[in-house]
Amino acid sequence: MTIQFNFVSSMLILLLLSISSAEGQGGRGGGVIDVVAKFGAKADEKTDLSKPLLDAWKEACASTSPAKIVIPKGIYFLSTATLEGPCKAPIELQVEGTVKAPANLGAFKEPKWIVFNRIENFKLSGGGVFDGQGTTAYKREGCEKHNYCDSLPINLRFDFLTNAMVQGITSKDSKQFHVNVLGCKNITFEHFTVSAPGESPNTDGIHIGRSDGVNVLNTEIKTGDDCVSIGDGSKNLVINGVTCGPGHGISIGSLGLFKNEEPVDGVTVKNCTLTNTSNGVRIKSWPGAEPGTCSNIHFEDITVTNVSSPIIIDQKYCPWNKCKINEESKVKLSNISFKNIHGTSALPEAVKIICSATLPCENVELVDIEITLSGPTGPAVSQCSNVKPKVSGKQNPAACSAPIAAKPTPTA
Ligand SMILES: *[C@@H]1O[C@H](CO)[C@@H](O)[C@H](O)[C@H]1NC(C)=O
Ligand SMILES: *[C@@H]1O[C@H](CO)[C@@H](O)[C@H](O)[C@H]1NC(C)=O
Ligand SMILES: *[C@@H]1O[C@H](CO)[C@@H](O)[C@H](O)[C@H]1NC(C)=O
Ligand SMILES: *[C@@H]1O[C@H](CO)[C@@H](O)[C@H](O)[C@H]1NC(C)=O
Ligand SMILES: *[C@@H]1O[C@H](CO)[C@@H](O)[C@H](O)[C@H]1NC(C)=O
Repeated sequence: MTIQFNFVSSMLILLLLSISSAEGQGGRGGGVIDVVAKFGAKADEKTDLSKPLLDAWKEACASTSPAKIVIPKGIYFLSTATLEGPCKAPIELQVEGTVKAPANLGAFKEPKWIVFNRIENFKLSGGGVFDGQGTTAYKREGCEKHNYCDSLPINLRFDFLTNAMVQGITSKDSKQFHVNVLGCKNITFEHFTVSAPGESPNTDGIHIGRSDGVNVLNTEIKTGDDCVSIGDGSKNLVINGVTCGPGHGISIGSLGLFKNEEPVDGVTVKNCTLTNTSNGVRIKSWPGAEPGTCSNIHFEDITVTNVSSPIIIDQKYCPWNKCKINEESKVKLSNISFKNIHGTSALPEAVKIICSATLPCENVELVDIEITLSGPTGPAVSQCSNVKPKVSGKQNPAACSAPIAAKPTPTA
């Protein structure tokens, strides 16, 4: 009886010890799952990582203590993967290697490559690279109308995540947007890198929509479209320490194209550097079409170098002649500030604030603007329409001092 008791209690102690060491996350044992060691993934650039990754995800997601999946260094091929929650405990995917997508466009039936869906307390880390192998897609024609481009896969989709962190990860050569954030609450991108050629169409760096509490911090984005684009329903966003270029800049919108768009409310873009981009900081909405609101937007401490349109509100946004340019936008813009924005402009229109005649912009502030022309075509100018900004501090060019061309040039 005594012997029996001792045996049972020592087994119990062993069990407790092994549980606590799993929670301790010390080495690779316990809560750490290596896709190569445990699930037979192969870093040979051709064996599909999909099944080993999904198997590892299944085990990690079912764990009642925090779990971490590791993709070790090496180059892997991944056809596609959707990693779904809810999981029983916090979960981390640590990618140390490079994961490559199929180059062949025919391999994708839906516009997605890797999806993280409905997960709470999620972390993506590890210094690894997601390579969308988009070079073949960039050569195809037909992106102007967007129909074709929108069907191409997005490298990383973060759908309906709560309390998530994406740290030290690179997205390379996505065929479409690099990152799409949808329906998330409290998600942070930190030391994130986006890398694609300046000529790659529709390859927005990070697109955010219908999300509350998104932070993009200390991130470097080189791409062919918007570095960060912010769609309807975005609330409480902070973009800080982003370097952008080549690319189309940091953009809110386009807004007012679709029915039932939700408000954009509370966006702070601070301490960002844009080089050689077509826009600096921008808000754009379509003429005519649908109503919307965009308020409490603050751009502060921004350096622009050789940027075509450094400061731009464009409520006549109308690429591909997809709208009636003579109609007015129904998107209401209010509480917008541009503070301490300095550097050089590649085109004369350094400051362009074109608001809607039926819904003029309200409470726009220009503080300490210093932009000179880097190009050869005359001094930098500042244009305003349907807005009376509150002006203070240095203003070079003089705020709202230039007339507006009758036909504004469409920008992409
Ligand atoms: C936001 O998410 C992070 C994890 O990325 C977490 O540490 C933090 O506590 C969350 N904040 C709130 C207010 O829940
Ligand atoms: C400003 O951005 C740089 C990256 O460009 C970053 O290293 C620095 O920490 C940021 N400063 C503040 C005060 O956030
Ligand atoms: C800006 O673009 C020009 C022309 O494409 C290029 O020569 C220059 O190196 C770029 N500058 C930076 C800092 O990338
Ligand atoms: C500035 O940008 C223009 C157009 O984007 C480009 O042609 C030119 O080479 C750039 N200049 C410098 C000095 O980078
Ligand atoms: C604009 O700012 C003022 C003052 O901070 C605030 O009272 C008002 O609610 C804001 N407007 C919107 C639409 O958020």
